[in-house]
Order: sequence, then C-alpha cells, then structure tokens
Amino acid sequence: MFPRNPEIYFILPSFHLKIMIQRIRGTRDFGPEEMWKRNWLALQLRDLARAYGYREVLTPVMESAELFVAKSGPGVLNEMYSFRDKGNREIALRPELTAPIIRFFVNDLQDSPLPLKFFSISNCFRYEEPQQGRYREFFHFDVEIIGSSEPAADAELLLLSNEVCSRLGLKNYSYRIGHVGIVRGLLDAAGLDKARQPEFLHLIDKGKRDEAEALLLSSDVGRGDVQQIMHVCNVKGDLSVLYGMDFEGVDYLRSVLEIAQSGGLHNYRVDLGVVRGLDYYTGLVFEVDFPELGAEKQICGGGAYRLSHLFGGPDVPATGFAFGFDRLLIACERSRALPEEPPLDAFVITLPGVSYTEGLEIAGMLRKSGLSVETDLMNRNLSKALKYASQRRARFALIIGEKEKDEGVVLLRNMMSGEEARLPAAELYARIKV
Ligand code: HAM
Repeated sequence: MFPRNPEIYFILPSFHLKIMIQRIRGTRDFGPEEMWKRNWLALQLRDLARAYGYREVLTPVMESAELFVAKSGPGVLNEMYSFRDKGNREIALRPELTAPIIRFFVNDLQDSPLPLKFFSISNCFRYEEPQQGRYREFFHFDVEIIGSSEPAADAELLLLSNEVCSRLGLKNYSYRIGHVGIVRGLLDAAGLDKARQPEFLHLIDKGKRDEAEALLLSSDVGRGDVQQIMHVCNVKGDLSVLYGMDFEGVDYLRSVLEIAQSGGLHNYRVDLGVVRGLDYYTGLVFEVDFPELGAEKQICGGGAYRLSHLFGGPDVPATGFAFGFDRLLIACERSRALPEEPPLDAFVITLPGVSYTEGLEIAGMLRKSGLSVETDLMNRNLSKALKYASQRRARFALIIGEKEKDEGVVLLRNMMSGEEARLPAAELYARIKV
C-alpha cells in the first residue's frame, strides 16, 4: 500500500530502502537485444506504411475516459485503466489508437483534404490476464484512412496488412473477412432493438452461438428471421459464397474482395461471423490469424467504422486496422524472419602511457564514417579490456600502446580469428567495414 502522507517516507527510511520494487504485472522491460528487434520491426512497418502514402501521428497516452465509453464495447471497457486526476477528471490510459486518432481529426484536422491516411506505433493498456502474447501494456501498429467509404479504401488496408505479413516473411497466416453491416442490417430488419445489437454481436464474436440465438428468441424476433440471421453468421468460404446473396452490404464486400484479389490477396476466407469485439464497426471487418501463436493467434484486426460524429465532428466514414506489434514480433521469430543484431564494429583500448583522448580521436574518426565504436570507459588492463570487447561481441579491438604510438600505427585485432595487423589510422576504416 502506498502511504498517502509523503512525510511517512522520512520516518520509515530503512523500511523504504529494503523493498525491491517490481515492475507492474503485465508490463515488460525491453533490454537492448529486444529493443534492436523491436526497432527493426518498427522500421519495416514505417517503410511500408510510407510506401502506401501513410503519415505517422502520435497521440497522448492519456485521454478523457469518455472517449472510449461510447463505442469500445464491454470487453475493452471492463479492461480499461481509468482513474480520477487531481482535477477530478476521469482519465483513461488508451486501450487502442482508433478513437484517439479520430478525436485528433475532430479537434484539429477537419479542414484537411480527405482522405487522411495515418499510422501510429504506440503503446496501449488493457487490464487483461497476462500470458504469452497478451499483456497489460502492449503496442499497436495502427493504420487509419479517414474520409473514404469506397471499396478501394478497405481493399487498400487488406493489401497493406497482407504486404506487412508477406514482406516480413510470415508463414501460414490467413484472413477471415466479413461485413458487420450485413448482420446489423438483418438485425434491424428483424426488429431487434439497436441497444441490444451489440450484445448479440459480442456473443457471436465470442463463438457463443447458442446464447446469441437465445437472445434473439427472447427478444421477440420471429423464428424465420432468427434462422436466417444465424445462417448468415455461419456463412464461410471463398468469394463464391457471396454470389446469389441478396443482402445490403454483400455487393460492397464482393467489390472489396475483387479489388484485394486483383492486388494479390488470396489467403482469405469470407466469414460473415466475424463481427469484432469493438462496437464501432459498421462495414467491412477482418482478422488475421497466425495459428502457431495458439490462443493469442490473432495478430491483426480491423474494419470500417464511424466515430467522428460521436466526438462532435462531421459524420465521416473511416476504416483501419491494428496489428498487435508484440504478437507480430513473435510471429516473425517463429517464422525465423528476424535478422541478427549487427555486432559492435570496434572496441578501442589505450594502454598505459597513451592518453585516453588519442583513442577517442580514432573512435571519433571511425564513428563519422558510420562504424559503431566503443572506447574503454573503465580504464581496464589489456586482458580485461579484451574480455569485455569479446563479451560485447566486438568484431575488432583497436589497441594503442606506447610502441604503436611511436610508430604511428594502431594494432588491429580480429576478435574472431585472433589475427593481428599494424596499420596507420587512415587505413583502419577500409579493413573494418564489412
Ligand atoms: P483489437 O482487435 O482490439 O483492435 O486490437 C488489434 C490487435 O492488437 C489484436 O488483433 C491483437 O493482435 C493485439 N492485441 C489486443 N490486445 C492485446 C494485448 N492485451 N496484448 C497484446 N496484443 C494485443 C483494435 O484495437 C482496433 N482499434 C483496430 C482498428 C484500427 N480498427 C480500425 N482501426
């Protein structure tokens, strides 16, 4: 328990010092190896998003809690980190990036030419039961198109997300693609109260078909309508399952898939039972699975939605997706698609009689040429410095003793082979660069 009165820390100093403070459950520290992989992945994602013309945005980690209340759905709301700040405002740590990006649009960007195409790589927070691939602090690679309700916009998102997976070298991933507007239209026509529709869709999303059917029956929906709705939620297969279907939204979905197919998306299944756990979707919805991840196999989810008018803006269509960045990274690892972190190029050691700054000068020259170079910040003797250089996986050690200084050379030692050469500083770069 955190004492409320700060003065207590002055009267309990020894108690305070002995506690080893642990990180919060479901959060992670990322060491340098992990950060190298994460930065590599972020670089690939940024490059790809930019190649399609998306520009990066960043929104605050905290938002007014009400931003998420209207349309996030009970799953996200029950898991939200929210608290009152010192001004008694209800604040939430963002559980996702879609609502914040639309709020940003409503606040500041309404006059921009549409469509706006944005991406963001940021952390999100949900109070979930932590396990491999599921965390309380996790990261989204989120992509949004604001302003278009054309099939081309949804198709572009399918193609971009597919290119993310294929460029990263993921094996055995697949799409399930539906259209929640088709199901919503049937629910409207059957007279199910709009307020009860999210409840029905959540049950379908969780695979609780019997409970979903019971909900319809208990809501005075006619038996014929119930049968039809349950049948539609069960439609699965290739594009041809949509031919002959005559509901609103089917033609749209077909157009999206035809464009996506012509752009190279083939590893998908139509599944009209995909309705997503968030309440804001109105049109196309999709999920990408990487089955090797087991229970947390869903690496990406998205779809078309309308949120802007709920935040005081114009009623503008939008569509987007988010990859679970952390799951995508695990999927890359499982597909052996991650490159190795490059080693340190060189470690500079100055021996007694040679000043540290002479080594620093050589390090500076090599760094300017683009090499990664460390100097010895611990003033160690030669054998200890070499041991550290090998622990750091340095490719070369550059040793400067009094003899080398007098001869105007540096002793270049290949840390793998042990081979040594004595070279003037000007020749070092050519020997070290790969
Ligand atoms: P979401 O399905 O809730 O969608 O999250 C997207 C992805 O984030 C999931 O498919 C999953 O890979 C990952 N994810 C979710 N929760 C966790 C967690 N606790 N730990 C690790 N990864 C997690 C959205 O949030 C929508 N905003 C997507 C979207 C963007 N729709 C339109 N635009």
